Amino acid sequence: MSVKKLLALTTIFMTAFVLVACGASKSSKSKDTSLSDVQKSGTLVVATSPDFAPFEFKRLENGKDTVVGIDVELSKEIAKELGVDVHFLTVSFTNVLGSVSIGKADYGISGISVTEDRKDSFEFTEPYFESKNVIVVRKSELAQYTSVDDFSGHSVSAQKGTIQEGVLADQIPKASAVSLTQNSEGINELKHGQIDGIVMESAIAQGYISNNDDLAVANITLKKVDGSSYAIALPKGSIALRDKLNQIITRLKKEGKIDQYVQKANAESEVG
Ligand code: ARG
Repeated sequence: MSVKKLLALTTIFMTAFVLVACGASKSSKSKDTSLSDVQKSGTLVVATSPDFAPFEFKRLENGKDTVVGIDVELSKEIAKELGVDVHFLTVSFTNVLGSVSIGKADYGISGISVTEDRKDSFEFTEPYFESKNVIVVRKSELAQYTSVDDFSGHSVSAQKGTIQEGVLADQIPKASAVSLTQNSEGINELKHGQIDGIVMESAIAQGYISNNDDLAVANITLKKVDGSSYAIALPKGSIALRDKLNQIITRLKKEGKIDQYVQKANAESEVG
């Protein structure tokens, strides 16, 4: 092969290489259209599990089953600011995160705790609420449970797919753990003596206790865990939408709006 030919070939290879490399880097940096997609479609699709008063729960309004609560108010305000409608995709808690990861929802909101693990699979906004874990027991047995060891051999439940499953396994290891799809099932089982405790977050426990005077929060302090604050979960790469949500959340916090949503939802979730 002549030197000339070799040079020509080398040039062709190098050009091809540069083209491929550019193409690859372009597609891997594919444009983030998360915000403009919502604005173009005119509807914000929000996945939520309405079994979690005061954050999201169902209520009869004008004879119609309606999803209400803190997270619902927050999402309505977000939609208003984006100039779009909001559609709530109501699913079980495990499916909230599932729908977000497959892109069936623009985001998930469900009192979702931000954890290091979840950060690997989702984008999270700034937190909008701080939570802590408690154990709900029968009021008549309050004196019986003063340390986690008192649950040895007793059945204690937590909601499936939540960080409470981890709290139960790590901090009450001698209990026999039961995973239930909804906390309300646990409440029923607790009232009827099938289980002896439920791990849930304080704000949710308060609601159940004010509606059931046979239940109470055990006088046991659980350790703070990774996941003490709630935030909105978005698909990986939805940075533009996340940044916009952060702006809105910052404003609402400053205006004291989140506290107002909490008060409104607490009043709505009271039976009676
Ligand atoms: N904060 C807990 C978690 O993220 C529980 C959330 C449950 N939410 C619900 N809507 N049921 O794991």
